[in-house]
Amino acid sequence: MSPPHGLAPLDILALEDGAVVMLDQTRLPGEVTHIRYDGWSGVVDGIKTMVVRGAPAIGVAGAMGVALAAHNAAVGTDSRAAFDAEMARAIPALREARPTAVNLAWAVDQMAGIVADHEGTPTEIAAELAAVARRIHEDEVDRCKAMGQHSLALMTRGARILTHCNAGALATGGYGTALGVVRAAFEADPSVSVFVDETRPLLQGSRLTAWELQEEGIPYTLISDNMAAMMMAEGRVTHVVVGADRIAANGDVVNKIGTYGVAILAREHGIPFIVAAPTSTLDLSMASAADIPVEERDPDEVRALSLFGRQASPTGAPVANPAFDRTPARLVTAIVTEQGVHRAPYERSLAAAWTAATAE
Ligand code: MRU
Repeated sequence: MSPPHGLAPLDILALEDGAVVMLDQTRLPGEVTHIRYDGWSGVVDGIKTMVVRGAPAIGVAGAMGVALAAHNAAVGTDSRAAFDAEMARAIPALREARPTAVNLAWAVDQMAGIVADHEGTPTEIAAELAAVARRIHEDEVDRCKAMGQHSLALMTRGARILTHCNAGALATGGYGTALGVVRAAFEADPSVSVFVDETRPLLQGSRLTAWELQEEGIPYTLISDNMAAMMMAEGRVTHVVVGADRIAANGDVVNKIGTYGVAILAREHGIPFIVAAPTSTLDLSMASAADIPVEERDPDEVRALSLFGRQASPTGAPVANPAFDRTPARLVTAIVTEQGVHRAPYERSLAAAWTAATAE
């Protein structure tokens, strides 16, 4: 039996005594296995290699990595100087493990602030960091649930929702952003169904989103990315709902490569394009998405596809592999945060959401 809201948060990511344990997302859907990291550099590796991925989830993992670094340093020494030196190695490495999703820097910076301001012993600091990392995890899941409820106002009966990438429980540490919207909609109306873009090159849609939906019995149809236009033209899609890795002050959205194309298609076909993301994904220091860094990943991720058991591109084919793209705010019908539903013009509404969230 699946739990009522997908995977339990602690099955996805957990901070234990002396370890961070992650569900290995590179092995889904075939194998459900966990990796136990007993040092912060392992957590950096887990983020880089996408054992854990998705904007809120890598933020949680980064915070847990800082807490693990502190735990291990405090076991090894009571010297505050030695502890601080180890934290000065761990914090930037965790913060920079992936560049695009702002949730990682957002979470690690909170942890760094605690280390900087704390006047206690290494053991005391480590205990506080562990509590904060676990709280960040719980808060992200709660934010997702709140977004799910707010988004009900945007749904219609029998909605057929197209989503891109995986913005589910796996991507957030529980419940999900875009898939949180789907879960809430399905709970209110069991005739809701989903189109899942496979999401080349790393197939987060077919490997992860389809798996999450299947586990929960939410009806879905898996399509390759180039089928979305046809599905829309035939009137088979009523809503597009995606997550985000970073949202600029003006409402521009950076999300998984291919999102921009889906947004253009949705506009052409008069379909609402909805972005669900917690305030931890807002970066109000960016006026627009123009300066948000887009991670360029290993060319082999694009070359790796094989068909009929044979390679699908010439050996050494030159490749471009930007992992994200920028969707201008003018193509976004609504942004849903845990603070509510935001409509264009986004500046004031997103700024107010940020202020409200930071006051909580
Ligand atoms: O490269 P990934 O798999 O980490 O990219 C993830 C996405 O682009 C998601 O859509 C985004 O992080 C939103 S997750 C709630």
